[in-house]
Amino acid sequence: MTKYGIIVHGGAWDWPDEQDAFKTPYLEESARIGRDILAAGGSALDAVEKAVNYLEDAPTFEAGTGVPPNRNGVAQLDALIVDGRTRDFGSVAAVERVKYPITLARKVMEETAHCMFVGAGADELARELGMPLIPNIELVDEKSWRAFVERDERVLKPQWGKSQPLNAEHVSHQPLSHDTVGAVAIDQNGNVAAATSSSGSPFKPAGRVGDAPLLGSGGFALNGVGAVSCTGNGENIMRLLLAKYAADKMAEGMSAQQAADAAVSYMSSVYPNPMTGMIVVDAHGNLAYASSTPKIAVCYTAGDQIKTAFRA
Ligand code: GLY
Repeated sequence: MTKYGIIVHGGAWDWPDEQDAFKTPYLEESARIGRDILAAGGSALDAVEKAVNYLEDAPTFEAGTGVPPNRNGVAQLDALIVDGRTRDFGSVAAVERVKYPITLARKVMEETAHCMFVGAGADELARELGMPLIPNIELVDEKSWRAFVERDERVLKPQWGKSQPLNAEHVSHQPLSHDTVGAVAIDQNGNVAAATSSSGSPFKPAGRVGDAPLLGSGGFALNGVGAVSCTGNGENIMRLLLAKYAADKMAEGMSAQQAADAAVSYMSSVYPNPMTGMIVVDAHGNLAYASSTPKIAVCYTAGDQIKTAFRA
């Protein structure tokens, strides 16, 4: 029997330490949900989906409900799920009426002949596959909506410049978070899976899609190698195919921690302030995380315990 385990994340950037206490119970419950599935002999795929569903519902992260809108005042959500057992994946981008994008991504993988759906077609698919559609405004965080309505330029101005994201001034003016969520797990049979769900960068231009739904960027999983879920500046992550980079390092023999560190170092060698974090599990059941940011919100199984951390 393989050593099973799960690690979840709730974004990587530089939020004030006093917000840690607010994030902690959500991270812990998410990891507990995944752990209980794995302990009962459930699949890594079920564990990451259900753990991420919980984080999609949590008010403090930017996935599912409670997210900032884009520049047009509309929430657009991205998600990716990867099954390391089958090498298959499902993903959705810019969905506007689905409460649980990661579940829609799984349905894309398991109930269609395709891998990725976007926009209105993805919402329409959700309805066809029996998922309830909700009004877009129900996905939007109230505080972010007020900022949008009041046209608060400090908040609405673009935050991530090309190759040189989030400078110190933006950080100090940033009252909102950018907290993609994700989970990677290994089950008792040694199967690995990854899930990533995000509303992308706050007040992004309409139609902008980040790394989260892109295989090899926002996530990757392959049995015998490991699984990865990324967070941070999606443009940088997708330019470097960061999740695949970390997986390739594990395929070359690195542990989860070595691969995570190597991926963040690689990113930092290309971009001076890459705003990147990731969680990783390797084929031996080792869990790891790393970030270029001062903080990353993670929670993971360690034997019988659940541990939370906010710094790499
Ligand atoms: N990492 C999430 C995004 O950039 O959209």
